[in-house]
Amino acid sequence: MDIQILDKKFAPYITEEKINDAVCRIASLINADFKEKTPLFIAILNGAFIFASDLYKEINIPSEITFVKLSSYRGTQSSGNVTTSIGMDVSIKDREIIILEDIVDTGKTLTTFIEELKKEEPSSIRICALLHKQEATTHPIPIDYLGFTIPNLFVVGYGLDYNGFGRNLKDIHQLQEG
Ligand code: IMP
Repeated sequence: MDIQILDKKFAPYITEEKINDAVCRIASLINADFKEKTPLFIAILNGAFIFASDLYKEINIPSEITFVKLSSYRGTQSSGNVTTSIGMDVSIKDREIIILEDIVDTGKTLTTFIEELKKEEPSSIRICALLHKQEATTHPIPIDYLGFTIPNLFVVGYGLDYNGFGRNLKDIHQLQEG
């Protein structure tokens, strides 16, 4: 059933059940790949908070999780840069990092963030994203753990918002044009 958020209509797109399957699949891969290791998960706020929470409950290896909030500043040009506005409270030097992101769109946010992280010399960086808009990606980055590749459409729910609303939806919904 379509739902209304502010001035827009959204239709169901990826069910709670399918999301849960993807989360469990990704967690098993990470549990296997990092069996002998102690990774540090870095979840990117706000959008990844629900994905990170559900995924982390399925992680059964010794590990830590921390959260960062990134803000992008756009000038008069369309090119933007990204800064960390809420920093991490854990040292990442020589750590194995797994970044948790809700959606990779242009890839700009993660590309800039990864460059920042590399300066602090972690031993490795892996990327885990629930969604990837492959066609919209202008800054290609290798996504090591991915839930779904989606077309270039606007989605809400499961942590993703439209102007701040819709994050609490259990299913992911897509924007209905017109
Ligand atoms: P990127 O830097 O273009 O890859 O942007 C990634 C960020 O844009 C995500 O973390 C989301 O916060 C936001 N974003 C991109 N696409 C969507 C969408 O379809 N719905 C809601 N937020 C989105």
